Amino acid sequence: MRILSGIQPSGSLHLGNYFGALEQFLNFQQSGAELFIFVADLHALTTSKNGEELQRNSFEIAAAFVALGLTGDHTILYRQSDVPEVLELNWILSCLAPMGLLERAVSFKDKVAQGLEANVGLFNYPILQAADILIMQPDKIPVGKDQKQHLEITRDLAEKFNSKFGETLKLPEPEIPKKVAVVPGTDGEKMSKSYGNTIEIFADEAVLKKQVMKIKTDSTPKGQPLDYAKCLVFQIFKLLATEAEEKDLAEKYRNGEVGYGDAKQILLDKILAKFGPARAKFEELRKNPAQVEKILAEGGAKARTETVKNLAVIREKIGLQ
Ligand code: ADP
Ligand code: TRP
Repeated sequence: MRILSGIQPSGSLHLGNYFGALEQFLNFQQSGAELFIFVADLHALTTSKNGEELQRNSFEIAAAFVALGLTGDHTILYRQSDVPEVLELNWILSCLAPMGLLERAVSFKDKVAQGLEANVGLFNYPILQAADILIMQPDKIPVGKDQKQHLEITRDLAEKFNSKFGETLKLPEPEIPKKVAVVPGTDGEKMSKSYGNTIEIFADEAVLKKQVMKIKTDSTPKGQPLDYAKCLVFQIFKLLATEAEEKDLAEKYRNGEVGYGDAKQILLDKILAKFGPARAKFEELRKNPAQVEKILAEGGAKARTETVKNLAVIREKIGLQ
């Protein structure tokens, strides 16, 4: 089974990315699947206009992948920009894509509504994503729920290609976690780098603490019962806790034993415990970037043999040879 996914280097990795995407990558890795995981730096260009920042973010996303344990013989980590064949397929697919298909894409509309520049790259974003996927012929794409429409567009384009040029492209299945379709941010909206409401896995402890303490709650004072079902702190804690720990904290909410401040401290301790080893590894990699660069170079070479091979078949089908 071949798995593929990418994450944009547009900021630091947060709990939404972890529970929406990365945890699934790790589960697939453990089940023995072949993984192609990439840093979507070309996608990040739709919004990034600062070279140094993009380079730093790309390095940090790759280091985060390694620190969280995405390693091994069957896991290929690479930079999207190291496989330029994707850009050729992007063009081929864009000549098959009706304008209306992209005009219906909600992520473009959302981003523009948030004030991002409406450039052509941003409009074209789903086609580039389809090219990332279809060029590698994966079986499954683990992503968060917000990516569902992009995967529908990918399947649409693959079907169009196949019906015009003959069965060539495999239709991939989205793999969206049921437990946590959308992880809420500190303000209760979807946790996202672009909303400034994230809890970052690899932030300095002081920054992490600030982010956790920022989680919105009501103003019930300590000593009174709290409604855990409505509490954002509890919702996030649930993602990290065992069932017994979850029950225990729910009981403390019910009987007024904890206030929101205590609950936030419990959540912070949980985050630090869960990601402690990965955080240490991340720091080590930051001091030794060559280790990460080597992994990306090797991964890029392996990924490229696949993209070159698959693009040759596509080119032949459409008459480019
Ligand atoms: P962001 O919205 O912070 O820019 P990305 O778009 O880079 O995040 O998302 C990378 C991966 O993480 C995608 O698979 C996406 O679906 C997932 N993801 C991001 N935020 C969340 C969230 N709040 N809940 C669940 N999954 C998420
Ligand atoms: N659009 C994805 C996101 O914002 C990132 C991405 C780019 C991706 N290409 C991909 C995800 C291919 C899965 C497969 O999260």
